[in-house]
Amino acid sequence: MTDTYIQWVSKGLGKDIAKRLGLPQPVVLRRHKPGQPLVEGPVLVQGAGSGADELASTLLSWHLDVRRHAVPKEKLGAIILVLDELTTPEDLEKPVLAAAASLRDLARNARVITVSRAAAAAAGPAVAAARQGVDGLLRSLAKELRAGATGNGIVLADGATTTSPSTLGALRFFLSGRSAFVDGQFLTVTADAGRLPADAEKPLAGKVAVVTGAARGIGAAIARTLYRDGATLIVVDIPAAGDHLATVANEVHGTALQLDISREDAGQRIIDHAIERHGRLDIVIHNAGITRDKLLANMDRGRWNSVIAVNIAAQLRINEALLASEHFRSSPRIVSVASTSGIAGNRGQTNYAASKGGVMGMVRATAPLIAAHGGSINAVAPGFIETEMTARIPFATREVARRLNSLQQGGRPGDVAEAIAFLASDAAGGISGEVLRVCGQNLVGA
Ligand code: NAI
Repeated sequence: MTDTYIQWVSKGLGKDIAKRLGLPQPVVLRRHKPGQPLVEGPVLVQGAGSGADELASTLLSWHLDVRRHAVPKEKLGAIILVLDELTTPEDLEKPVLAAAASLRDLARNARVITVSRAAAAAAGPAVAAARQGVDGLLRSLAKELRAGATGNGIVLADGATTTSPSTLGALRFFLSGRSAFVDGQFLTVTADAGRLPADAEKPLAGKVAVVTGAARGIGAAIARTLYRDGATLIVVDIPAAGDHLATVANEVHGTALQLDISREDAGQRIIDHAIERHGRLDIVIHNAGITRDKLLANMDRGRWNSVIAVNIAAQLRINEALLASEHFRSSPRIVSVASTSGIAGNRGQTNYAASKGGVMGMVRATAPLIAAHGGSINAVAPGFIETEMTARIPFATREVARRLNSLQQGGRPGDVAEAIAFLASDAAGGISGEVLRVCGQNLVGA
């Protein structure tokens, strides 16, 4: 579904009218294209400790234009605020106000990224207060940024440093056009694990990936993005979607598996197909999902059960088969598609939100189990995404829903796919049990 308002408001009369009437002024987001620079413009690294120095040296080794002090009036591609040594809330003042002085110099689609430590691991109340303060600070700042700029944070758990592979992986993701619709979010680096890819354009080279619900919508976009990043694809969907599935399989030069994921033997069927046709299995993306909306007062057993069966029970059963399989032991990756409905709730979606909340609970509890095989499991929670599903929402409701986030527009299926591709890569090996929202920072609810 095209958002014609963005085109109208981005130039000429439309731009003037929107400005005068105080209407939303979304901009066309800078999305990743192969060969594109990581970030457009110099990167200002604020922060005084050794962690900031080491991070700045790494950015220099990536041939970025790095500044340790702002140059007046220079347009910046990004500000990285390294806050890993906070001991009291007062420690925030110096680096935060120094960064504040440069906010007006941010270029379009610029990035502000904090790097801080986990409050849960703090030694005492003052340290925890300072660390948790970064959360509120960053989420508020993200709501103040304009012109496609985003603010996101990286949180270091015990054992992770400013230059751990997944800190750098998350930093590259947040700096790049791959995170265009991720705003006001944090990723926690849980371990000093993972590895940056040898070829940044093909981070999934040599991997075999399964995507469920890939015949259309977000699933088809995930398949295309993983293929672009070098993976070999197995696309899965119900037999009734067989023709569309075959088209996607051809497009990504992969194989199609017609399978209802709620079948008892779905996990084993997926493993058998992967081993017989491709000789290995590295990545499973649980994307297939359904909605059967009704107010709870009118909910029938069929609507309730079908949503739970497809959206969560099937994933649990497939994961059990994967974790038990000797063929899923080489740095395996699972990424599940949740939804912001499972976080903030949505009227008419008690069944759907229960299933998507369930996905997030499953991911957290499965992280230690898959860690035993050197693997990771995470979820991505999309907000308003322009798909066939959201195109069916009545015009006025849709228009309000798609503007109610910091970027004042809906996301694209490809935006969800980019987050999934990152979490499926070796660069995210030190990130597990996390839920990353791809929602442009919804302004209402969570
Ligand atoms: P969609 O309805 O366009 O595509 C879902 C695909 O899953 C279809 O091809 C369908 O045939 C397949 N599928 C359904 N049941 C299946 C089963 N039992 N076995 C195998 N395949 C099955 O949906 P869309 O919009 O692409 O959503 C994809 C995922 O993203 C879903 O999990 C959805 O809940 C989630 N999501 C979507 C949002 C949006 O704005 N569109 C927002 C938040 C989450």
